[in-house]
Amino acid sequence: MAYDPTMNKPAAEGGTLRTPVIVDCDTGIDDSLALLYAVASSDCEVVAVTCTAGNVDVRQVAENTRCVLELAGRPDIEVAIGRETPLARKLVTTPETHGHGGIGYAELPPARMPLSPRFGPDLIVEEARRHPGELTLVTLAPLTNVALAVLREPELPRLLRRVVIMGGSYRSPGNTAPTTEWNVNVDPEAARIVFEAFGGEGSNARWSERPARPIALGLDVTERAKLLPEHLARLAALAGCEPDGSIRSGGSSAGSAVNPIVRYLADALRFYMEFHSRYDHFYGAFVHDPLALATALDPTLVRTEAVTVEVELGGRLTTGETVTDWRRVWGRPPNLDVAVEADVDRFFDRFIERVGKLAAERS
Ligand code: BDR
Ligand code: CA
Repeated sequence: MAYDPTMNKPAAEGGTLRTPVIVDCDTGIDDSLALLYAVASSDCEVVAVTCTAGNVDVRQVAENTRCVLELAGRPDIEVAIGRETPLARKLVTTPETHGHGGIGYAELPPARMPLSPRFGPDLIVEEARRHPGELTLVTLAPLTNVALAVLREPELPRLLRRVVIMGGSYRSPGNTAPTTEWNVNVDPEAARIVFEAFGGEGSNARWSERPARPIALGLDVTERAKLLPEHLARLAALAGCEPDGSIRSGGSSAGSAVNPIVRYLADALRFYMEFHSRYDHFYGAFVHDPLALATALDPTLVRTEAVTVEVELGGRLTTGETVTDWRRVWGRPPNLDVAVEADVDRFFDRFIERVGKLAAERS
């Protein structure tokens, strides 16, 4: 395993203060940006990545995930495949948002790194047991794998240090149906299992043993993270190339044709920006998943409110809605820390600096 437990400790104790994370994703354009951000962050150690069916089918998710990790120079990271379908519904993918292959107009060489022999939900449970109280789980996809993991190991919430979820729309409209967000909409049964298991008291738990509530980033905050062409231009400049990835003549990398990471970003994001231009009326892209990943490394990027949330399963129009008790009319303990504000400027500065530096190094 790549994960070294000393990394969780301060330097004075022999550690390096890196946050060890397991990323569960359905790569996906914005998922791929989150993976690049994770690899580019010196305060992050990616322990493993688990793949969930969502934006594309799960085999394609695993292929995209490995291609992006190889692009980032990290073919050593374990990538495990999860369940092929949501718990109770047919999988509906989203080629109009992410392209048929899931990474927009980008083309990457076929993945060479092997797939893990482990099943994604088993990997989550096994790593959490191996490093109790240390790992952060970041979910950027439908919650299918995490639901299976917690059904297998009900103690999972206490075994993890923190859970950060991209999913839901708590005060804002949905992006899939009028009141539902994509990740929850794809597998609402899984979301309900996870929200209950991670936010509940658990049968034997004393109050002090209750796990930290998951931090949930819904569209309320992730749609404030609008990546614009000027952000990409700043990142490319840091990497010493043009926004399409071509190397500036006279730069240190002159002679090579392109910067592969910037070229990838340009091609993937062109598709994503065209989609947003059609559906959301601006030429740019919401980068939901990178904001969630960045929050897992630094929760001060968001301000949260503790609220009680249930997932609607039986609605005629509202199945998948994250019904949120803002006025505490249910009188029940909160089960999620929902993000209500995000420092998106600070997030974009970090994204550009970190991924730009990685791109320069991989030029
Ligand atoms: C979520 O849906 C997916 O298409 C994105 O990757 C993100 O995780 C936003 O609703
Ligand atoms: Ca995603």
